Amino acid sequence: MANFKISDAVTYVGVDDKDLDLFESQYDVPNGMAYNSYIIFDEKIAVMDTVDAAKTDEWLENVGKALDGKAPDYLIVDHVEPDHSGSIVAIMGKYPDMKIVGNAKTFQMLEQFFDGVSFDDQKIVVKENDELSLGSHTLTFIMAAMVHWPEVMVTFEKSEGILFAADAFGKFGTLDTDEDWACEARRYYFNIVGKYGMQVQALLKKAAALDIKKILPLHGPMLTENLEYYIGKYQVWSSYTPEDKGVTIAYASIHGNTAKAAKELAKMLEEKGAEKVSLFDLARDDIAEAAEDAFRYDRLVLMASSYDAGVFPPMEHFLIKLRSKTYRNRTVAIVENGSWAPSAGRVIKSYVDEFKDITLIEPVVTIKSALNADSRAQLEELAGKLV
Ligand code: FEO
Repeated sequence: MANFKISDAVTYVGVDDKDLDLFESQYDVPNGMAYNSYIIFDEKIAVMDTVDAAKTDEWLENVGKALDGKAPDYLIVDHVEPDHSGSIVAIMGKYPDMKIVGNAKTFQMLEQFFDGVSFDDQKIVVKENDELSLGSHTLTFIMAAMVHWPEVMVTFEKSEGILFAADAFGKFGTLDTDEDWACEARRYYFNIVGKYGMQVQALLKKAAALDIKKILPLHGPMLTENLEYYIGKYQVWSSYTPEDKGVTIAYASIHGNTAKAAKELAKMLEEKGAEKVSLFDLARDDIAEAAEDAFRYDRLVLMASSYDAGVFPPMEHFLIKLRSKTYRNRTVAIVENGSWAPSAGRVIKSYVDEFKDITLIEPVVTIKSALNADSRAQLEELAGKLV
């Protein structure tokens, strides 16, 4: 991505990564990933975060072009996760007089990541609401612990009303990807930040006191208008409130009979007028997207084969993800399949029992090997209860 101006004083100098196979070594990113970085030009010059080490050279070139022979006075480190701190040592080498601004935890973590690198001579340690004047621009540092790591802070620039939001309001996909913001921002939110809804709520409360005109995140597009929409989405997501009415069916099927039952259930739900039915094969589809829809809609059906006196592993993998993202406040139904001693339902229920504020539709529906008239009638009854 070539540099571009966000305002007279602020230039985008981030990079797109289209070669990335998996973000955080786990998330499919069919449209790549953007590592955003910005420079504020005033009497003093501040670089806002660096980028992943995979893109150091390209980023330094962007920074060099934007600076046009000048040297930056400050590097602001809002987040130390390597997708943003991966080029810090490289820029320190290029501009040795540049000060590095972070909080106490920032430097503790930087020292862990970069063994043998000393930040002592360059560091400026800030805390909540400390200000740094660049001239006509003033930066205020606002701690945002656990959005998404403990050292995270966001930086608010008063004169232009810009919130440099770190991971918050981020999205999968490179900047030049033409796609709906909410879809990939939602998948990003629930999988990356989702566990920390309370902390996101705390940040939104602090943000509500600021006159924000632009949100510049570390991933995804700059949000420069209609901010109520994006902040509204974050309010809903972080409060664990279902966003839309609908039923997500997540199934894990070994030989296809549970899959067949899941598809029949989907059809029954549609016939009964379900607002939306979202169907996932947990063995083959993107489980990050399944988790996204599990959070998006107000009802979830978990359907799985029994396996080794437990549950077929793709379902357990999904349940572990839901548990780690603190899934809650939805209606859940369970369907198990087993040919001799069905065990999937018991295991699924043991996870669901740990989720907070769940309405469990009982009883668990049991299929013996394949749907028959009896289990089909039970599914039909379940569909009725779900709609
Ligand atoms: Fe984009 Fe938490 O790093």
